Amino acid sequence: MIPLDSNISSGGEFLLQVRHLRTIFQTEQGSLPAVDDVSFNVRRGETLGVVGESGCGKSVTGLSILRLVGPPGKIVQGEVLFQETNLRELSRSEMRKVRGRQIAMIFQEPMSALDPLMKIGVQMIEGMQEHLGYVRKSAWKQGVELLQRMGLPQAAACMNAYPHQLSGGMCQRVLIAMALACQPQLLIADEPATALDVTTQARILDLLRELKSEQSLTMLMISHDFGVIADVADWVAVMYAGQVVEYGPAEQIFYRPSHPYTQRLLASVAGIYSDVKQEYLPVVEGTVPDMGALPSGCRFHPRCPEAEADCRKIHPELFPIGKEGASHWVRCLKRENVRVKPHAE
Ligand SMILES: Nc1ncnc2c1ncn2[C@@H]1O[C@H](COP(=O)(O)OP(=O)(O)OP(=O)(O)O)[C@@H](O)[C@H]1O
Ligand SMILES: [Mg+2]
Repeated sequence: MIPLDSNISSGGEFLLQVRHLRTIFQTEQGSLPAVDDVSFNVRRGETLGVVGESGCGKSVTGLSILRLVGPPGKIVQGEVLFQETNLRELSRSEMRKVRGRQIAMIFQEPMSALDPLMKIGVQMIEGMQEHLGYVRKSAWKQGVELLQRMGLPQAAACMNAYPHQLSGGMCQRVLIAMALACQPQLLIADEPATALDVTTQARILDLLRELKSEQSLTMLMISHDFGVIADVADWVAVMYAGQVVEYGPAEQIFYRPSHPYTQRLLASVAGIYSDVKQEYLPVVEGTVPDMGALPSGCRFHPRCPEAEADCRKIHPELFPIGKEGASHWVRCLKRENVRVKPHAE
């Protein structure tokens, strides 16, 4: 079965469909599958949360969608369907038009995403001039309005400031404003609040939630923090060692996590979500495997207390669980008993 191609994508309005995406890095250790057979959907007006520990391939997934992975990285397989267009097939110039205009990204390192030598305003208006054909004066005016909408005090003065004159939280608001300047249809937000202090983090997340409800913004929210994902996501993809190990509607993932990794990740960050008794779910011990030395069989088996002999040998596929037409998917041999049974002929 091809994951997600059947029941999940048959109804509904998908803005983005990622299919069997594979991105490798050619290194001295060999070719590392940073993103390995990743599939998911993002529905219009909804937020997909991508969550997992450091190094599991979240950022490379976001960058691959926009074809921003540079050497030694390379996308080698899969489709990225944005409104039915496979972005992998576009020419470079067509892709440049998509970036910023139709899909915008907030990068993981907020400070390095701004040019320290250019005024904020000059950086803000670039996209509007290039993609929307605005003249400088109206782009500048629009920039001030956007910064005001993002809750920045003295927006006009901010436009004339250099990045180092603003706090981390202010820079992040500027980056969100820049990302939204050309009214993209999809926003990819890679750890948009991680580099900030807790209070500022909460404000940025409030802002993104507001934008989602007021402007029906469609988002791909990347975070290692299940708390952040719980706050904003309608759907969740849990990643482990370059792969999606569990995927489904947020409430299913939070209240009925199925994969042993998801269960432990949830228990370790927020004991309140899962229905499963907490005393049976210790924090997830051990570390993510080195991509150059992946374990045989299930990539999670060395850390999984449920692992049995087969888990060391067989690499599980992502399959639907629960009732016919279910939208909850999991990659775990130990869950085969709850797999959706095909129709009897
Ligand atoms: N330029 C590179 N060269 C070699 N390997 C890379 C490169 N960039 C990323 N990788 C590898 O790809 C894998 C996925 O990295 P990625 O940045 O997507 O992780 P992440 O889930 O975003 O982690 P974090 O939570 O720390 O941001 C990692 O194993 C990483 O070492
Ligand atoms: Mg990252």
